[in-house]
Formats: sequence, C-alpha cells, structure tokens
Amino acid sequence: MTSTLSANLKQRADYTHKHNLRTGRHGWLRLTPAYSVKMVEELIGAMERPACVLDPFCGTATTGLSAAYHGHSAVTTEINPFLVWLGRAKTARYSHRDILRARDACVAALSLVKRGKISPALEPPIHNIGRWWTPESLKFLRTLNAAIDETTAQGTSERTLLRVAFCRTLISLSNAAFNHQSMSFKTEGVQFALAIATDQCGMFEDDVRFVLCGAEENPTGSCAVIEGDARDLPQVLKTRFELVITSPPYANRMSYIRELRPYMYWLGFLVNGRDAGELDWVSIGGTWGVATSRLTEWKPRTQCHCGKKLNEILERISHQENANGVLLANYVAKYFEDIWMHLEGLRAVLSKGARIHYIVGNSTFYGVLLPVEEFYADMMRTLGFEDVQIRPVRKRNSKKELIEFDVSACWRAAI
Ligand SMILES: C[S@@+](CC[C@H](N)C(=O)[O-])C[C@H]1O[C@@H](n2cnc3c(N)ncnc32)[C@H](O)[C@@H]1O
Repeated sequence: MTSTLSANLKQRADYTHKHNLRTGRHGWLRLTPAYSVKMVEELIGAMERPACVLDPFCGTATTGLSAAYHGHSAVTTEINPFLVWLGRAKTARYSHRDILRARDACVAALSLVKRGKISPALEPPIHNIGRWWTPESLKFLRTLNAAIDETTAQGTSERTLLRVAFCRTLISLSNAAFNHQSMSFKTEGVQFALAIATDQCGMFEDDVRFVLCGAEENPTGSCAVIEGDARDLPQVLKTRFELVITSPPYANRMSYIRELRPYMYWLGFLVNGRDAGELDWVSIGGTWGVATSRLTEWKPRTQCHCGKKLNEILERISHQENANGVLLANYVAKYFEDIWMHLEGLRAVLSKGARIHYIVGNSTFYGVLLPVEEFYADMMRTLGFEDVQIRPVRKRNSKKELIEFDVSACWRAAI
C-alpha cells in the first residue's frame, strides 16, 4: 500500500520549511521541523470569511502568521518559551516608528562594536562551544549581544527585532550545517574559511535589513501566541475555533531542543543542559538528556486507545534483538498517549462544524513501520470526529515508505 502511494508522490521542497526562507517574516529564522507556509495557505484559502484559527503546536508560528496575513484571528499554543517569544515577534504589528527606531539602534550598536567601546557579554553556557563558533566569531557575537543590550530598552520592539537579526547572524556564523533531516556540524576547515572571509558587522546589518523588510509587512488579522501545553487546551483557551491547522511533533525521536539550543542559550532561555532535558521531557515526543532516562521508567497512565494494532507494533519494536527496543516502544506508547490527551481536550474548544488538519509523518523503528496517520485517524473517529480523511501530501525523503499526510476531520457534535 505504502509503496503504491509513494510511486505517485514527490518530495516537494515547496511543501517543506525551505519554501519559507524567502517568504518575508516566515523566513526570519530557519527551523527544520517548520512546515511550508504554502501548504498552510492552501488550507486557509478554503475559508471564505474571517475565521478563528487554532494551531496547538505553534513552532515558528507558520499557521498563526499565515492566518493573520489572511485577515483571520489566530491563536496558537506552544510549550517552548523561545518559540513563544519568536512567534510573538513574527506575528506582532510594527509601526513605521518602530522600524526607524530599530534601524537607529542597529547603527548605534554596530558603532559601539566597531569602536571597541563595549565589553563582550558573558559567553553562553553551551557545552563544547568551540564546536559551534571560532574564537573570533564568539567574541564578535558576545560584543554585539552587549551592544544590543546597551542601545535598546527591555521589552521594546527595537530590541526584539535586533534580537531576531542577532539569531540569524549567530547561526550563519556558526558551524551548524542543515544538510541533514536535522542539524549537524560542518567540517572545521569550512568554518575557519568563513570566519576569515566574513565582514561580521556587514552580516548583521544585512540580517537587520532582512528582518525590518518583513516587519514592514503587517498582518491585517491577529495572532495570539500562548505559552501552554496542548494537552490542557480547555484550561488554556477561552474561545472556540472553526479551523485547526497544525503539525504536531513527529513520532520520530527528533528533539526540537537539539536545533534550538544555540538560540535558547544566547537569549537566556536555557542556562544548563539539565533544563534542556526537562523541557524536552514535558514536550510531546522529547527524548533529549534526562527525557531519555525517564522514558525507560515510564508507565502508561491511561489505557492504550490505539488498541491491538499499536500493541502488536510495540511488541515488534521492543523485541529483544533490538538494542534500545524497550526504550523506543515506550517512546511510541507515550507519544500516542500524549496525542490522545491532546485530541480529547481539543473537542472542548471547537465550534460545531470545525475542520481540523493534522500534518503528520509516519516513521520506522528497527524496520517496523509505524503508520502514524492511521492511528491519528483511528483516535479521531473514537473521539467522535466525523468525515475523517487521510490525504498523502509528499514523500519525506528518498526512503519510499516515509510519507507526510494531512489527516483531517470534522467536529459536528457539541460539548
Ligand atoms: C512540528 S513542530 C511545529 C512546527 C510548526 N508547524 C512550524 O511551522 O514551525 C511541533 C511543535 O510542538 C511543540 N510542542 C511539543 N509538545 C508540546 C505540547 N505539549 N504543547 C504545546 N506545544 C508542544 C514543539 O515545541 C514544536 O515547536
């Protein structure tokens, strides 16, 4: 079945985060698990009048920003405080005065850096920081960070905009490579050459220009980004929604913390590795640091709602020949328990007739295919959703069995 599907599907770079890079504010920061604004717009475009749109797994606010640009009122929830900050920065309205102030603050900050009139800020406590930046780049970033603090006041839009630009610069100057599914490191020679060849102040200026260009394009609608847990929606949200477009964490053991670490440490959202593990543990699908050891001990809280089909898969994954089989079977079981809790609560914040779209990818563990889309569809049906559909969207990579789907359904009941 999967191979027949895959034969007719393409990888579609326009349906990935790559499409966002040159799309104004959507391209402010690159985050691999972000989905394509094009895919969201195709779904939002079907709404003929302003609607209340929800994205419970906000990430970089692709849905929220797109909905606001189309004149809708969006609300998003996100568990990671850095992404909450970024989502608010991306969806805010900026006046002409805000833009001029940010431009002036950039000139003032770079003047301090160039004249050597400011001491570098403390080094962020990133493990093995020398792997990320050369000593020259690190010193520049620390000095620029201090200069931004000096020339902008806390809580102002100019500080926010310069910090977004700073995030762009710090990642461009880093040794991070994005040629894999997630982030890895370039070889040292490449980074060294970049450090020598780069006009670092000019790079920051370019990044500020790019960010301000996006900031000038204000949305006509609105988006509120709420820091909260998608498993507690009835407690977190006070309104009801007509449309949900979201991509929940994938069941593929990819930790968002891994890629977000540099930004989170530089901006003070993380101060040590232990906190990174704690945040990953409270996030759905997290397995970074302490989250991995806790998973080994984890026991289900609720009866498995995915039934016999999931149990059979868990047994195959946890087979004794698979070195980390028990851990990974627990990972998968917890993932579906968390998503069940989320979908169960979601019903209370939907208007009658609401349509929901979940963009999800399937996964494999030790060669065992996990048909994530089928489990989502089963859970939706069990919870009373109607008209449940599974639509294949694209192939995720060259492996023919890995596919991304839009699992959609309609909520007709009233709770
Ligand atoms: C696949 S990403 C979403 C990407 C997003 N569609 C975008 O375009 O950037 C999933 C997001 O869910 C967030 N998340 C994980 N567990 C959560 C929870 N319990 N409540 C709310 N957000 C959560 C993660 O931090 C991550 O940002």
